[in-house]
Amino acid sequence: SEDIYILALESSCDETAAAVNKNGLKVLANVVSSQVDLHKKFGGVVPEIASRKHLELLLPVIDQALAEAGIDFEDLDAVASTSGPGLVGGLLVTLTAAKTISLALNIPLIGVNHIAGHIYANFIANPEIKKPLLCLTISGGHTDLLYFEDLRGYKILGRTVDDAAGEAFDKISRFLGLGYPGGPAIEKAARAGNEMAVDFPRADLGDSYNFSFSGLKTAVMNYVNNEEQRGNELKINDLAASFQKAVVDSLTANLLQAVEKYDVESVVLSGGVAANQRLRSYIEEKLEEHNLKLYYPPLELCTDNAAMIGAVAYYQYLERDFAPLSISADPSLKL
Ligand code: KG4
Ligand code: ZN
Repeated sequence: SEDIYILALESSCDETAAAVNKNGLKVLANVVSSQVDLHKKFGGVVPEIASRKHLELLLPVIDQALAEAGIDFEDLDAVASTSGPGLVGGLLVTLTAAKTISLALNIPLIGVNHIAGHIYANFIANPEIKKPLLCLTISGGHTDLLYFEDLRGYKILGRTVDDAAGEAFDKISRFLGLGYPGGPAIEKAARAGNEMAVDFPRADLGDSYNFSFSGLKTAVMNYVNNEEQRGNELKINDLAASFQKAVVDSLTANLLQAVEKYDVESVVLSGGVAANQRLRSYIEEKLEEHNLKLYYPPLELCTDNAAMIGAVAYYQYLERDFAPLSISADPSLKL
């Protein structure tokens, strides 16, 4: 059978990205142009600035991806874009570009769910992962615990009822003056801190697999305000470490609860927060007791990229799950 080449585009947040995938999981090029530095001084992504920058960067990024892959537009079998969730201005940039390419080359257009992309990043890195599996998808916008029977069918066991895990990292980082993006900043500060220093609350939503981080956020803020009122000097490293451990414990507790209930072959992490070393090592330690291996994508596939979008797109291609040119961006698209 013939090889399938897909050009995939992603700009749902603050990375402008294009990738060329061969038969889904083989990544021929994965170009990511990050805007992190541009948004740093604002302490977060400014949507309007992000979309203007995506517009400016997308064509060079596409050219570079095709050049690195050694592929011409004419060789492409399909073009894919994230269709949601994300910032609407950013989503529109790649979706409009993908529609144009689809129309000009007369090749199918594929709209991909960004969260599915984060999950499939795992299969690019580790195609041998055995199913059924449990997947913890943790990003700036999502905290989902999923059960995968196979690659196409999954069940959502739990999700956050308020803030996403990454959002909690970002908000607390900003609050502690550690900057943006919050996850890496907190992790770095935590390395020099004592995670047992402050016993922050771990939300327990009973029998459900749902998560909650807003109580923890409030607890950290109250703690800091109290200490400041008493004139005590804040130990930022200890606070970062204690907060991080509270998030890690909450995420791990629900995952382990699911591991005991579901008979799975593997456990995978996905999304930006999966880059957190403390989280990885703690879950790994806990899974050893169950003889389960933990998989997570390498850093460049953990954070936003287009190769993960191309991987999902390939499976949609096989199922002829194409999008009409009228498809619109959906900022709150669900899995
Ligand atoms: O998946 P992602 O790149 O973008 C989306 O939200 O879709 O995730 C970004 C999130 C941010 O909230 C960032 O603070 C968090 O992932 N993050 C981390 C780490 N690296 C990135 N959180 C904890 N520890 C990290 N090392
Ligand atoms: Zn993402």
